[in-house]
Amino acid sequence: MKEPKKIFLTGANGLLGQKVIEVFRNESEHKLILSDLHDKAEDSRGFDYFQMDITKKEDVKEAVKKFNPQIIINTAAYTNVDGCETERELSWRVNVDAVKNFIIASRINSSKVIHISTDYVFDGRTGNYDENSKPNPLSYYGKSKLASENALITSGINCSIVRTMILYGSGKNIRPNFALWLIDSLEKRLLVKIVDDQFGMPTISDDLAWGILKIVDLDKSGIYHICGSEYLSRYEFAVRLANIFGFDENLIMPIKTSDLNQAAARPMNSSFILLKAETDLNIKPLNVTDGLYLLKSLLGL
Ligand SMILES: NC(=O)c1ccc[n+]([C@@H]2O[C@H](COP(=O)([O-])OP(=O)(O)OC[C@H]3O[C@@H](n4cnc5c(N)ncnc54)[C@H](OP(=O)(O)O)[C@@H]3O)[C@@H](O)[C@H]2O)c1
Repeated sequence: MKEPKKIFLTGANGLLGQKVIEVFRNESEHKLILSDLHDKAEDSRGFDYFQMDITKKEDVKEAVKKFNPQIIINTAAYTNVDGCETERELSWRVNVDAVKNFIIASRINSSKVIHISTDYVFDGRTGNYDENSKPNPLSYYGKSKLASENALITSGINCSIVRTMILYGSGKNIRPNFALWLIDSLEKRLLVKIVDDQFGMPTISDDLAWGILKIVDLDKSGIYHICGSEYLSRYEFAVRLANIFGFDENLIMPIKTSDLNQAAARPMNSSFILLKAETDLNIKPLNVTDGLYLLKSLLGL
């Protein structure tokens, strides 16, 4: 049995935050203090909930002083990638300045910060990125997440940065992620146009939350790449989902990224080398088929 720790969790109502709560509640004795922007928690059973805007420096300092956590897990972020291009100031405040708030606050009681980052810190020209690969973000979102990483690394505080990608999974009142949006559209027999030239390694939120628990239990620091174990295009992912969920795959039409006119440029070939996470943390993330079957059972479909 690992010694239970007091952990302050931000973004508790988000896709990853809800899964961290579930996994930590079921698989550990750690005591979570939940926090998010919203005035209530989607699921706080067994844990206290504290409403807080992480961009408010004094509030963050007060909270860390009051709860005195050994660890802060920051899953809160401004996650709308295209929105970051137009909402630059707000996205920077949430994705970068708020992380600096946690750095300042964590000096009060030497809390460790576990922060979530993204494959969008890379340009996606080569893929096969490991934790030492050189970042080169294409989008404002990627730039803000890289700036948050750099703030943590240069701060000298005890921290761990977990980069992930194409997160999907279940949760209450969460923003529709790629898989949930597809399920909803295909269920309604809507035609969906999906890019066949953007490749990545989709990650079920359960695997990421489990990896974060391992970082806590094994007391690991530094950068970790944690994502699903299979590399494929968004189009291939959509077809796989249609087959597993019993939808008509003819509703899925392949298109090119250039047809979409997205505000933010995306890395086209984003693959992570998972060796460090697999060996250090002893985790084995699911492939897409197994991840989608897990999602299907979680959704009761
Ligand atoms: N989703 C992906 O595909 C993906 C891929 C790579 C990396 N990541 C990273 O993984 C982490 C978790 O992502 P996610 O998909 O779980 O995000 P999410 O579902 O969007 O959840 C983020 C949560 O943070 C909250 N939040 C936003 N601004 C806040 C503020 N100022 N103060 C306090 N809370 C605030 C949001 O509240 P509101 O809903 O009210 O805004 C939301 O509940 C993020 O760091 C993200 O950058 C995600």
